[in-house]
Amino acid sequence: MPSQTDTARAKVVTLVQQKGGSGKSTLAVNLAAVSGQNNPPEKPDAPCPVVAAGIDRQGSLEDWSARVPEDRLPFDYVVTKGRIGEIPELVADPAVTRIFVDTPGFMETDPDAPLDADPLGTGNTAKAMEEVLQNTDLALVPLTPEWLTHRPAEFTIERVLKPRGVKFLVVINMWDSGNDREKDGVRPELEKLRDWCRSRNYPFAAQAIRRYKIHSKAPEDGLTVIQYPESGTSLRAREDFYKLALSVEQAL
Ligand SMILES: Nc1ncnc2c1ncn2[C@@H]1O[C@H](COP(=O)(O)OP(=O)(O)O)[C@@H](O)[C@H]1O
Ligand SMILES: [Mg+2]
Repeated sequence: MPSQTDTARAKVVTLVQQKGGSGKSTLAVNLAAVSGQNNPPEKPDAPCPVVAAGIDRQGSLEDWSARVPEDRLPFDYVVTKGRIGEIPELVADPAVTRIFVDTPGFMETDPDAPLDADPLGTGNTAKAMEEVLQNTDLALVPLTPEWLTHRPAEFTIERVLKPRGVKFLVVINMWDSGNDREKDGVRPELEKLRDWCRSRNYPFAAQAIRRYKIHSKAPEDGLTVIQYPESGTSLRAREDFYKLALSVEQAL
């Protein structure tokens, strides 16, 4: 586990996917929660070494974190609202070891731009994204069984991450594990998603995040996975995140 002496600079894990609704905010908050639980402040009144940062103007991270009672929130959070300079400042803060950044989805800003143009465009959000990506140690790209997330995942990797040399992992999210088995010679959904990654040579996290109702209710209930009940499906829902957090640490 990281300590404040052996890591001079905080490591930045960024959730990035062109498509909204694929799980960026869910993954950012819950990975920060697991990491924060594993890396508590050295003294009760010291700052948390784990920070969740949102550059998202919609502020889903802020809305969610604000609902979790202060004494149960294992990370600090900041919402930059696109301000430049805050992420590098956090990275340089010796008290911080891990930063999980939630980003907004993005569009091609100019529909007439050449196909190989940089898709982040030029606005304020684009500048904020650029700064985050420059500081990112590992990008996580959520992929869900819904095929509408596939092309945006590929687009994010090919057009945004690879040109900048940002290391990445695909994270399969919202997997319906319940009846996912081979039928009539058709491969299970999870294997199809993994094949999709393999055929493109995209590294993917071994642990998929299953789809559970508790995840979608958690923001409203002011919960992160570390506060889920330790029984039944809640336990399985949190277990996915504990395992994913380990893969993320290994990939860093
Ligand atoms: N593994 C999951 N199981 C169930 N619901 C999920 C899961 N991951 C995300 N969701 C829900 O799907 C919706 C979109 O997720 P969100 O994290 O907000 O995506 P993004 O930030 O990429 O737009 C939210 O309502 C969220 O609660
Ligand atoms: Mg979001």
